[in-house]
Formats: sequence, C-alpha cells, structure tokens
Amino acid sequence: MMGLRVAGTGSFLPERVITNDDLSRTLDTSDEWIRSRTGIAARHLLEPDTPPASMGIAAARAALRRAGLGPSDVDLLIVATNVPEEIIPGSAPFIAEGLGLHHEPPFFDIKAGCAGFVFGLAVAGAMMDSGLVRTVLLVGIEALSRFVDWEDRKTCVLFGDGAGAVVLVGTEGDRGILGAALHGDATKLGLLRIPAGGVRLPASPETVAAGKHFLRMKGRGVYQSAVTMMERATLEATERAGISLADIDWLLPHQANLRIIEALVKRLGFPRDRVLVNIDRVANTSTASIPILLDEAVRAGRIGDGDILALTAFGAGACYGTVILRW
Ligand SMILES: CC(C)(COP(=O)(O)OP(=O)(O)OC[C@H]1O[C@@H](n2cnc3c(N)ncnc32)[C@H](O)[C@@H]1OP(=O)(O)O)[C@@H](O)C(=O)NCCC(=O)NCCS
Repeated sequence: MMGLRVAGTGSFLPERVITNDDLSRTLDTSDEWIRSRTGIAARHLLEPDTPPASMGIAAARAALRRAGLGPSDVDLLIVATNVPEEIIPGSAPFIAEGLGLHHEPPFFDIKAGCAGFVFGLAVAGAMMDSGLVRTVLLVGIEALSRFVDWEDRKTCVLFGDGAGAVVLVGTEGDRGILGAALHGDATKLGLLRIPAGGVRLPASPETVAAGKHFLRMKGRGVYQSAVTMMERATLEATERAGISLADIDWLLPHQANLRIIEALVKRLGFPRDRVLVNIDRVANTSTASIPILLDEAVRAGRIGDGDILALTAFGAGACYGTVILRW
C-alpha cells in the first residue's frame, strides 16, 4: 500500500467527571464492584444540552492544528460513530459544518460497533491508496450516555463520552498500514443493540415507555467473544503485515473492560508494559476509545518514529478487527 502518515491527533473529553462513588449514590452498585470487574474508576459525560458533534469538532480541530493543516486541506471526512447526531443525515455533516469545510469535500459516517475507528482507518487507507483522496480526517465520536439506561447497572457503569481524531496524509517511504484484518460475525448481532428508533421499530410512545431506545447488552456474551475476536484479528493482521507479534511496539486495544484487555494480552503472550490503557479514567467511549488512547500516547511522547502499532477493537454487529500501523 501507499505510505500513510498520521500527521496529527486530537481528542476531547467533556469536563464533567462522574466517579464510581458518584454513581453508587443513585444506583445499587459500588466502586469496588465496578473497579474489580471492569478497571473503570471514572468516566466523562457530556452535559445534556451540549450537541455531541461539538466533541468531534474539538478533537478534529486539535488534530488539524497539530498536523499544521487547515479545514481546506481535508479531502475526505470519515466519522465513526454508533449513534449519529441525527438518524438523517448522520454525524459527518454536523462535524463538517462545525469545521467549516466550505470546499465541499465528501463526508460520510461509518458504523461498525466499537470497531468503527479501526474500520475507518482501513477504509481511509484504501481510499488513499487508490489515489481518490490525499488527506483524510478520521473522527471517532460517541455520546452513549444519551442511550444507556441509567437505571440498568449492568450497562450504564461501563460507558463514557468523548471523541478522538487523526489526520492522515500520504507519504513516501514505509510508514502506514502494514496489514489489517477486519471481520463481522452477524450470529452475534443480538449481543449489543438499541432495538427501537430505527426503521425496524420506529419511535412511538409505546417503544419509549418500554425503554426500547436504550442500549441493551448481553455482557457475559460480549465478554466471551471479545477476547478471541481481537486475538484472531491481531494474529491475522500481523501475519498479513509480514511481521511477528514481537515486532509490535504498542498494542492499543479498545477500552471496554480491563479484564478483557488482560485476557487478550495473556493469550497473545504480549508484554503488558507495551499495552496502552486509559479505561480507568475514561471508561468505554466506543468508537472514540482508540483515537483518544492514541492522542494521549502521542502527546505523552510515548510513540516514536517508526514504532509499530496494533490497533484492535470489537463491538456491536459483532464487528471486529485489527490494523497494524507503522508510525
Ligand atoms: C458487564 C460485565 C462487567 C459484567 O460482569 P459479569 O462478571 O459478567 O457479571 P454478570 O453480568 O454475570 O453479573 C454478576 C452479578 O453482578 C451484578 N451486577 C451487574 N452489574 C453490577 C453493578 N454495576 N454493580 C453491582 N453489581 C452488578 C449482577 O446483577 C449479577 O448479580 P446476580 O448474580 O445477583 O444476578 C462483563 O460481562 C463485561 O465487561 N462484559 C463486556 C461488556 C463490554 O465490553 N461491552 C462493550 C462492548 S463494545
């Protein structure tokens, strides 16, 4: 594939922080339960009157600034999200409008569960490789706090809001996507759903009364699938990249549950100190999880020139995949 460089990264987390203790004041749960089962200590939640797109716009502006580029340099905007700003027209137009993409580059949403950012990276790389576009702004954004049932302790404690973005530019040399493995297992589509509000079951007073607009999750089933999915995708992507696991400098797993991450790392036999983790502070931000993790690592100076990164994720669908990237 053509060389590709991450020219800039950015992220945004809402100011409001809700700790486990805060949740336990209104919910039958405890800091001990949440921490020991998930590794989560706190999450950032968007204020109810703030449009979610504002998070994506802030993350994208930071990524463009660090890339030394402006809105007019963007050839394509891809927005990975599960729950769009509006069902029609999605999230991308709102982010394009906020950024002022007046030169009318194409934009679209991508929906692949919590693996949306990883899928988006592969799609962006392929479109760059084909020569269709040169500079891509890829945003992962999620405000699942708007769709979790705050009375359902099995799901609401897991999620946080946020956004992350990368600017991808073409480059000479051997940087870029070395290999990727993307998969979908539709036999598992029942594991994570928002049953109402789409065309299958449009919104009605009855669906709202029945709470069918909330995210419903079979936690144990997700847990059992997640580890093997990310393991399979990572092994395949590594093989396609023509490298071995030992060549990977940093593993960036989707931040869904610390125990899932630790089980994955154990199965892969990957060194724990080479795994990036921030779930304790941000919880599961879905499609925003990996770009936030990446931006934090870049800003902390952890990722060096030529480092090989493995970005791996799983989520609703069930979609899962890994992209191997040389920095
Ligand atoms: C959600 C998850 C942490 C639950 O852990 P678990 O060990 O599977 O727990 P269970 O759902 O079996 O519940 C065990 C008990 O804890 C209780 N419990 C669940 N949530 C709780 C909470 N927040 N606080 C206290 N107790 C809780 C349950 O009610 C159950 O009690 P019971 O045995 O009396 O019925 C775990 O399944 C998980 O992380 N799954 C993956 C979720 C995920 O990654 N989702 C995002 C995909 S992108």
